[in-house]
Amino acid sequence: MLKSLLTPLQLRGVTLANRVVMSPMSRYFCAGGVPTRDVADYYRRRADGGLGLIITEGVSVDHPRAVDNPGIPRLHGEDALAGWRYVVDSVHAAGCPIWPQLWHQGPMWNVEFAGAHATDTAALRPSGIWGPPDGVISVHPERRLQSLPETAPMREEEIADAIAAYAASARNAVAVGFDGIAVHGAHGYLIDSFLWQYTNRRADHWGGTPAARARFGAEVIRAIRAAVGESVPIALRISQFKMQDYRARLADTPAELAELLGPLADAGVDLFDCSQRFFDTPLFEGSPLNLAGWVKALTGTRTMTVGGIGLGKSGKPAAHIDRGQPSDNNLPSLVERFDRDEFDLVAVGRSLLNDPEWLRRAIEQRDFLPFDPANLERLA
Ligand SMILES: Cc1cc2nc3c(=O)[nH]c(=O)nc-3n(C[C@H](O)[C@H](O)[C@H](O)COP(=O)(O)O)c2cc1C
Repeated sequence: MLKSLLTPLQLRGVTLANRVVMSPMSRYFCAGGVPTRDVADYYRRRADGGLGLIITEGVSVDHPRAVDNPGIPRLHGEDALAGWRYVVDSVHAAGCPIWPQLWHQGPMWNVEFAGAHATDTAALRPSGIWGPPDGVISVHPERRLQSLPETAPMREEEIADAIAAYAASARNAVAVGFDGIAVHGAHGYLIDSFLWQYTNRRADHWGGTPAARARFGAEVIRAIRAAVGESVPIALRISQFKMQDYRARLADTPAELAELLGPLADAGVDLFDCSQRFFDTPLFEGSPLNLAGWVKALTGTRTMTVGGIGLGKSGKPAAHIDRGQPSDNNLPSLVERFDRDEFDLVAVGRSLLNDPEWLRRAIEQRDFLPFDPANLERLA
């Protein structure tokens, strides 16, 4: 059933053996920002499971206010780079490419968490705004209350520093052997807070029209391209929903989405990683296309879908693969969409946390492992 997903894909100088990708997932096990042997083993087990590509957990770019949790890894400093070199070598030894996900939390950065690690107290926000006071959120309401007070909008030199931080980390990534670069441009973090009209109210050339709101992300992509050269592929994750409000939308119409994404595609994005909570939720009324489907149709750029693959709507991995009987396993509808050319890659998150061998089980039509929530809390 998965046959069409088991075909290779070339992205610039990198060949993926198949279309199934490990989705970026923060795990907070990198004390002091340094990936350990346990972290390497955790990624190696997924590589051994036969994936086409691993995208790492979000990794801090080289900027003091990029991430607020000291368990998040960084991509600067000899200790962290040596840790990553070991991770990359382990994953490559299993024949799997691996890309880091470059992360700057922007408005979501919280000095309360960063504590003694913080050299400054204000999060980087395009217009000083965190998000709406009444959004649907999963972060603690108290955290929202702490975050709501407005801060100073980003100054021109802060914008330039942030862009340079992405480029510096991308250069380090290639130096330790990563095969490509994934950029977190979704979920309300720094790049997304420029894309999103609610948090970007700037009247200068970084805000206003959708194309102007895309300028910051486009400059990040250009700076990364200049740092890594032509053979290294660059992916950009985007989403409608935000951590500040699950109901938020980047764009209400296909035309608006096209205007927003055009400058990013032109800047050299090779793959849009289109984040949805469930891949089978249509993006706009009147069409079954999901975010990845629309982005591919509008930009002509390759896309990846994600969200709930191998999971029932309950959010738990389905116990049984579909063998022709009705079940809540959604692989048949995923493959149908893939075969209609709606997207080029599929990313899997929680199902792979639950079971490093998830892809093999799916290919061999073996029953999936029962979902163990403890696997979300440990490096199983
Ligand atoms: C524990 C956990 C950590 C996550 N961390 C990140 C992250 O660092 N960056 C990111 O872009 N998405 C992150 N996500 C979202 C996943 O990449 C994925 O999009 C989401 O879980 C939906 O896919 P799934 O239903 O297959 O799990 C995280 C998800 C989980 C469950």
